[in-house]
Amino acid sequence: MPTAGPAARRVGELLREAGYTAPALERLLRPTGDALVDRGELPVYRRRLAAEQGALQALARLFLLGDAVAADEAERALGAAVLSLLELGLAHEADGAIVPDVEIVPHDDVLIASDGRAEGLGAAFVPGVQPPSALLAMLTVRRPVARALDLGTGNGLQAILVSRYAERVVASDVSERALAFAELNAALNGVTNIELRHGSFFEPVAGERFGLAVSNPPYVVSPETAYLYRDSGLGRDRVSEHVIGGLAGLLEDGGFATALVSWIVDADTDTDDAPKRWLESSGCAAWILHTRTDEPLGAAGLWNRPLRGDPDAFDAAVGRWVDYFAAEQVAGIAYGGVVLRRGEPAWVRSTKLPIARTTQAGDHLQRLFAGTDWQLAHDDTSLRVARLRPVAAALVEQVARPHESRWQTSAVDLVHEGGLGFRAGLDGPAAALVTALDGSRTVDEALALVAAAGGNEAGALALVRELVSLGFYVPE
Ligand SMILES: C[S@@+](CC[C@H](N)C(=O)[O-])C[C@H]1O[C@@H](n2cnc3c(N)ncnc32)[C@H](O)[C@@H]1O
Repeated sequence: MPTAGPAARRVGELLREAGYTAPALERLLRPTGDALVDRGELPVYRRRLAAEQGALQALARLFLLGDAVAADEAERALGAAVLSLLELGLAHEADGAIVPDVEIVPHDDVLIASDGRAEGLGAAFVPGVQPPSALLAMLTVRRPVARALDLGTGNGLQAILVSRYAERVVASDVSERALAFAELNAALNGVTNIELRHGSFFEPVAGERFGLAVSNPPYVVSPETAYLYRDSGLGRDRVSEHVIGGLAGLLEDGGFATALVSWIVDADTDTDDAPKRWLESSGCAAWILHTRTDEPLGAAGLWNRPLRGDPDAFDAAVGRWVDYFAAEQVAGIAYGGVVLRRGEPAWVRSTKLPIARTTQAGDHLQRLFAGTDWQLAHDDTSLRVARLRPVAAALVEQVARPHESRWQTSAVDLVHEGGLGFRAGLDGPAAALVTALDGSRTVDEALALVAAAGGNEAGALALVRELVSLGFYVPE
């Protein structure tokens, strides 16, 4: 396994000087979908790269496509840096060729080396940047802190991102291989304020406090222990409960934590019951951001996708997982992010997260917490005299259709551009309320316009509270 050091910094510089960035690699490979590399398109990418020369081409062949490059060709393109690649264990030499041992993928402006698709490594396999990793990065409350924690750091992506806001970051993992990748990636990205710690869950940070914490734990409800990144071995949704409780306990007063979690739902219960229960006496305010719910067979198929190349193994795994869900009476599995803030007032709220529209949401999340505090601290009398203004990211979208030769409004939506990407359909009275609240009127004055549009006061006041809680409006 690679160990970091000056050679890793040299390789980081080499990648940057060669322009190994997502936009440049997209220009080179011209992928047709969202992914930088779609494995099914390899023959096309190989032909495209064959027409190119130079360092970027050689690096892309090695670390994106996973192809060997003839040693003399690699030396011509990369010079002495080839030795650093070999020294670091990023590649080895065989039969006159440089053979890659890791994948390196840019995520925004961060370079992440990982085992990529080499899943044959078994439990220790360290994946690259997955969609949940990107989601956790978007749900991190980015604000300056002295100490931050990334629990279950894996390839180190979250720790590297958080290192920009924290003076010191502790990145922990139970996997030595993951920690080696995190160390390598910190060095590749020139980051020096991450301290790596080995151990299970909260053991390596017992008794310590943090201003910011993030965790993308192995939250999958799984009957197996095949992969450390996926299977906690704790059974059911216990890992999510454990991580939420642990993070709540190690935050400083006012500190934020974000964790990705899953929870078991049965057909009869409200889907957010389990995390609400876990948070009951956490001493934290919390937002549960529910992304989706899978039925058991869908979950079994999803989490065993790496086996799709081997139909018999895939079939057997799906069978084992479905049997486990049946034995545990799991009717569905919900997924989402939980964002915590330690201290009073402690309340728990939940909402659906439109994941496809979500972008970096640190500021929006802070507004959710401040807005929820504010509206809970105001009774209806004090709410009525408040003036609220829409935030810059708020947008009212109106769809009009011709009806008997006249334009007729058929839908009005309130949209939060970027951040958590919320969108809500508005009926006539709600649309009247939203457009009346422009910072110049009091809530009371806006209520008169709602009444004229046929709405009732109680409903409008509840909507005002919701709009402030969801970060569409802030008090003047
Ligand atoms: C889903 S991966 C997340 C990796 C990375 N943080 C990200 O966001 O992409 C989960 C990580 O948790 C680690 N892990 C699994 N069990 C653990 C445990 N008991 N204590 C600490 N880390 C653990 C795994 O080794 C893996 O690196």
